[in-house]
Amino acid sequence: MTRVLVLQGPNLNLLGTREPGIYGRETLDEIHAGIAARAAELGLEVAFFQSNHEGALIDRLHVRDFDVSIVNAAGLTHTSVALRDALLAIERPFWEVHLSDPWKRDAFRQVNFLHDIATASIVGQGARGYHLALEAIAERFGGAR
Ligand code: DQA
Repeated sequence: MTRVLVLQGPNLNLLGTREPGIYGRETLDEIHAGIAARAAELGLEVAFFQSNHEGALIDRLHVRDFDVSIVNAAGLTHTSVALRDALLAIERPFWEVHLSDPWKRDAFRQVNFLHDIATASIVGQGARGYHLALEAIAERFGGAR
């Protein structure tokens, strides 16, 4: 069974109350419950990890106990060479997901250290973006339907 790691970066633990006009009212636990249900339908094994700390995210990637990841690096998307290096070093494909569309927001969000090394990027679809990534992963790597 394809093993998927969903990696969530800084401040995503505050979803539900964090700038709901941009990120919606769903909490991270609710989003993860929806992802887990869809993963089960698709026959994918899924694990979740959220941290507000760059090094903790990098250490989690280094474990390499997954085949593919879905990464919402949040603010680190726009700053972190180290996270980019880790994603390259572990040699696992990843889908980049953002709830909002950073390309349509502040100028500093136009800097993106992950976009060009992601298999695909899904932005501006809210939590549905994670489901679209799962579906693409199931199509590419297999999973029961
Ligand atoms: C985000 C977009 C980032 O620019 C921002 O720093 C976040 C959330 C999103 O999911 O829309 O923290 O990754």
